[in-house]
Amino acid sequence: MSDFERIFARNREWAERVKQNDPDFFLNLSQQQAPEFLWIGCADSRVPANQIMTLPPGEVFVHRNIANVVVPSDLNCLSVLQFAVEVLKVKHIIVCGHYGCGGVRAAMSSEDHGLIDNWLNHIRLVHRLNHDRFEGDMFSEDNQNLLCELNVEEQVRNVCSTTIVRNAWGRGQDLTVHGLVYALKDGILKELCRNEAPEAA
Ligand code: CO
Repeated sequence: MSDFERIFARNREWAERVKQNDPDFFLNLSQQQAPEFLWIGCADSRVPANQIMTLPPGEVFVHRNIANVVVPSDLNCLSVLQFAVEVLKVKHIIVCGHYGCGGVRAAMSSEDHGLIDNWLNHIRLVHRLNHDRFEGDMFSEDNQNLLCELNVEEQVRNVCSTTIVRNAWGRGQDLTVHGLVYALKDGILKELCRNEAPEAA
């Protein structure tokens, strides 16, 4: 059996195991989803939202792109955000970056990476905005880790400044935006920042 064919064999085994545990699991999920979490993370294959949070299908709405970037001109990301906030009414939005992010590392170099450099410009801006925080060898692990963290914090700010989140907070909706970073080396998640609705003036 090829690696590809094995996908179907494993899938049937998995579906069978889930049904043994809860015979109505798929029937119930097919009728509705009510996740409490929206995950905006890196597309990196080593950072799968459900597995890291040990959440089964139905518990987390997911958007992933290179280096977990949120830009207000990205209709894809905004559509996910709007559906999650206004229809699913998630209680937590998680922006999760990870140490060792290839997208962040590529953004630090002046090499030509082709089309993706247009996307990475969003991270170069984070670097420029914080250039006084970086010391010594530009590509040191410390500096790369710092940019991974600063990028998460900047993308959290971008989420919070969308009309979608501002309007939700204006309506009094229960919604918290979290910035997390994941370590590939030990599988541990850490919270960097947390934003709740600003106090009404
Ligand atoms: Co990455």
